[in-house]
Amino acid sequence: MNVLLVAGARPNFMKIAPIYRASLRHGRVRCRIVHTGQHYDYGMSQTFFHELGIPSPHFSLEAGSGTHAVQTAKIMVAFEEVCRTARPDLVMVVGDVNSTLACSVVAKKMAVPVAHVEAGLRSFDTAMPEEINRMVTDAISDLFFVTEKSGVENLEKEGKRRDRIHLVGHVMVDNLLFQAGEILKRPAESFAGHALKQSAGPYLYLTLHRPSNVDDRETFQGIVEAVNELARARTVFFPVHPRTSLKMEQFHIRFHEGVPLLPPLGFSESLFLWKDAEAVLTDSGGLQEETTALGVPCVTIRDNTERPITVEVGTNVLAGTARESIIDAYRRSLAKRGTARVPDLWDGRASERIWENLLDAGVSHCA
Ligand code: UD1
Repeated sequence: MNVLLVAGARPNFMKIAPIYRASLRHGRVRCRIVHTGQHYDYGMSQTFFHELGIPSPHFSLEAGSGTHAVQTAKIMVAFEEVCRTARPDLVMVVGDVNSTLACSVVAKKMAVPVAHVEAGLRSFDTAMPEEINRMVTDAISDLFFVTEKSGVENLEKEGKRRDRIHLVGHVMVDNLLFQAGEILKRPAESFAGHALKQSAGPYLYLTLHRPSNVDDRETFQGIVEAVNELARARTVFFPVHPRTSLKMEQFHIRFHEGVPLLPPLGFSESLFLWKDAEAVLTDSGGLQEETTALGVPCVTIRDNTERPITVEVGTNVLAGTARESIIDAYRRSLAKRGTARVPDLWDGRASERIWENLLDAGVSHCA
């Protein structure tokens, strides 16, 4: 089985790493990695290939940044050529970024079956570009690998055949558990964040990059006020995404001195800091799940989540974006700590289940 595995932006790299590794255990699978180049800075891309043990991409499309239309179109044009020459039996896309949408559409129009990993998630908020990417990708995919039961329910409501939907758990958790084990093998002093941690006492960890949070001056300012309030009592480590950095400059945003601004962090440096945080404050999709997997309180700075299981059984609390609601959610997240549990099948074996499913069923039946 000749598979093209697509990744383009930071959260994708964590998802393809365990899928690729697991593919090597199956002699009948030839899995090759396509990097669309949606993210390209060392700290947003190559560092993950090094740390997560992913080989250099077999195909690099170098699409780069642009408006949604420009970026999506560049990826589509380049990926069409790759499909033409590589003649895959299956294209596997992960998550919900522009690369996911672009490559699934190209493959499907070339009559190549598409498997979507992390299928079925819905925020029901089409103001999020990711929601549009998820809906379009699922509308045309042939096989759906799902992380949580809400994804199965959404796909069934949308009329997908039950035998094409596989609840397999979460490849991101496969990667997390693997890397958490690797971290334990290294001395703490070998992490750049060690000294920060030592000097901080109990601390919080913040990530922020959603356009709806940082592209609007008033919303961004309200979030900053909440963070600055929390920073009076707790150090808040904040690795700053390039989008957020641009907006901070444009809006003259100032953080409290208790919020050390860090560059974007690689996977293990980031994990080294957030795994021991008192709570994580974030608008990332992946961190909502990763914190639930490790039982770390999580405050999600959004009005909705496409990952409801993290709120239902996990450590996640939805905070909205207003100053007071974020501070209140922080308090509620600490109270949740002892009561949360890890969702079913988030056990580090999702990637293996994906290949088992594919090899059992074969892909010819879904074209
Ligand atoms: C993208 C994804 C989002 C994901 C996020 C993770 C879409 C629609 N959005 O959002 O789902 O959560 O990645 O980071 O696919 N930039 C750099 N260097 C880079 C990449 C980007 O400086 O390597 C800057 C560029 O100025 C760019 C901006 O960041 O315009 C935004 O990047 P882009 O990939 O368009 O969107 P993200 O906000 O990163």
